[in-house]
Amino acid sequence: MGLGGYMGPDLTNVISSPDKGENYAKAFLLSGTERMPKFPMSNTEIEALIDYLEHIGKTVTYPLSNVKTTWYGTFETTGDE
Ligand code: HEM
Repeated sequence: MGLGGYMGPDLTNVISSPDKGENYAKAFLLSGTERMPKFPMSNTEIEALIDYLEHIGKTVTYPLSNVKTTWYGTFETTGDE
């Protein structure tokens, strides 16, 4: 739906983003951050997850033009289409 996650950022466009992409996503998964746990997966698992994220990015519209997300994970509709 393009409304992001409650615990972390929306990942819809993370692979197609010019300043992010595959290696960027892999780095987050393998290393984690202060606020995101690391996921020590095999290369095969990581590739599958990246393929999935890439696929999702091609099938949905994000951001939704009439929806505004709040920093605490809920959303408001703005009325514009
Ligand atoms: C398979 C599951 C996950 C994947 C593929 C994933 C992937 C990512 C990616 C690619 C980013 C960078 C996003 C960007 O810069 O646009 C990110 C950031 C982040 N993720 Fe995850 N993540 C996962 C699970 C989680 C979980 C379980 C949590 C929380 C418990 C979490 C919390 C965060 C947070 C808070 C950030 C922002 C970076 C920071 O503040 O340190 N993620 N994640």
